[in-house]
Amino acid sequence: MTLALDDVGREYGGLRALDAVSFTTGEGERVGVIGPNGAGKSTLFRVIAGSERASQGRVTFEGKDLSRISERRRARLGIGRTFQITELFGTLTVEQNVRLAARDGDQVAGVLSRFGLQTWRASRVDELGYGRQRLVELAVTFATGARVLLLDEPAAGLGAAERVVIGDAVRQLPEDVTVLLIEHDMDLVLGLVDRVLCLSNGRLVADAGAAEIRDHPAVREVYLGERDDESEIAS
Ligand SMILES: Nc1ncnc2c1ncn2[C@@H]1O[C@H](COP(=O)(O)OP(=O)(O)O)[C@@H](O)[C@H]1O
Ligand SMILES: [Mg+2]
Repeated sequence: MTLALDDVGREYGGLRALDAVSFTTGEGERVGVIGPNGAGKSTLFRVIAGSERASQGRVTFEGKDLSRISERRRARLGIGRTFQITELFGTLTVEQNVRLAARDGDQVAGVLSRFGLQTWRASRVDELGYGRQRLVELAVTFATGARVLLLDEPAAGLGAAERVVIGDAVRQLPEDVTVLLIEHDMDLVLGLVDRVLCLSNGRLVADAGAAEIRDHPAVREVYLGERDDESEIAS
């Protein structure tokens, strides 16, 4: 279950949102993706999921070149990007949403229990709090049978307690599911992943173990630079 990027680039007009990005992940790997706003993190996920095409380089999954494969077919191959909450069916129940996403109807109860959603099974999604909706989003993506989960800031905008719930949900995913997680909160991300990729201006500037990433020279430079900017704005 190997996902590999080889020299992947994505341009918007003259802007290189992704620039010569290469890395490989193996089955069950848990990988954090960090970097300042505008670094190219979401673009990376769109290029892997297939909602956008790379303008350069190749994405392969299990050795298969995905260049000409649509987003829908990539999802069927097992590449799942979190659905936006707006793509959930708000007027349907949690269970109905999971059932619509599931490849196999027998899995619905198991998915609900895995994500601690049994209690809310019969609740309409639009009647749930925001944190719970994000959990449903995760459950629905998982229910599609994804082998690689691309989670773009699943805990953004949530309070501390809800962040813990999302963290736990990611932690208890089956061991063989590969997870790529974009997350700004370093403590949260480092508690969930073994490896971290850091993007800056579209380039992969660090690819290191979770224990090493804070001390990585390129990461220090990226984040110190960011902090300097903020203090300038504040002063
Ligand atoms: N559809 C688009 N058209 C033009 N520029 C875009 C588009 N999507 C993203 N960008 C630009 O690409 C860069 C990377 O964006 P993005 O991947 O969203 O960054 P991140 O998720 O790391 O904050 C940014 O400069 C952003 O403004
Ligand atoms: Mg983003």
